[in-house]
Amino acid sequence: MLTEIQQQQYQRDGFLVLPAFKTPDEIAALRKRAEALVDAFEPDAVKSIFTTNEQSRHVDDYFMGSADKMRCFFEEEAFGPDGELRQAKALSINKIGHAMHDLDPVFERFSRGPALAALARDLGLAAPQVWQSMYIFKQPGIGGEVGWHQDASFFETTPITVTTFWFALEDATLENGCLWVPAGAGGHRTPLRERFVKHGAGARMEKLDATPWPDAQGAVPLEVPAGTLVVFHGLLPHYSAANRSAKSRHAYTLHVTDGGSEYSPANWLQRGAGLPVRGFE
Ligand code: FE2
Repeated sequence: MLTEIQQQQYQRDGFLVLPAFKTPDEIAALRKRAEALVDAFEPDAVKSIFTTNEQSRHVDDYFMGSADKMRCFFEEEAFGPDGELRQAKALSINKIGHAMHDLDPVFERFSRGPALAALARDLGLAAPQVWQSMYIFKQPGIGGEVGWHQDASFFETTPITVTTFWFALEDATLENGCLWVPAGAGGHRTPLRERFVKHGAGARMEKLDATPWPDAQGAVPLEVPAGTLVVFHGLLPHYSAANRSAKSRHAYTLHVTDGGSEYSPANWLQRGAGLPVRGFE
């Protein structure tokens, strides 16, 4: 799947951009299915707002219970002061998470198969385990910023093996909030700065290391067309700016660890015997 040069690039930079990994038809099918899930969602039943902006945030039962379900989460700015949605429901959802790849046939088809299995192998994941899927909307106008973080904070293993598969479902640009990564090589060889672990009935972020995040001059944008797959190492710092443009920025992510590493029982996302974690086959 990957050339020798691409494998070296990944080792050096901690990420790899693979254009045209998914076809327009595959993307259209996933988008249509996500639209149907949002359509069926009853917003009054929950008003859980998800944001990664706060150092330590209250995470309610709705979030903690979503590890093995398909649940919709609102944008932080979705509600007005009166507690009502500012705009249509379909334009207010931040994301759907976190087990569509195991529960929904359309998502399953997109999330598995020989191409992904071969890629995972080339990235060093001998026994891939796909823990989480997220459909991220980054809505026009209100799509929230996601500040610098490392995905390994959410999927601690010993040793650290978590790898992110980030699919652009629409063109990701500077205007609609594309990904940013550190300029220069080696971002993924910096320490894990914090970890998001279970705490009481919820979970919280714990500081582990004082290494600073890159500054604004030390970051480069990854502007990529729809269909591109960006894979990156769990220790690579990254962020995405708010979307103040009139265009959405849909993306789909999978978080994958290697079965040979030890998955921390403190991670917020755990799977019971009813829905065991599986690979790409
Ligand atoms: Fe991330």
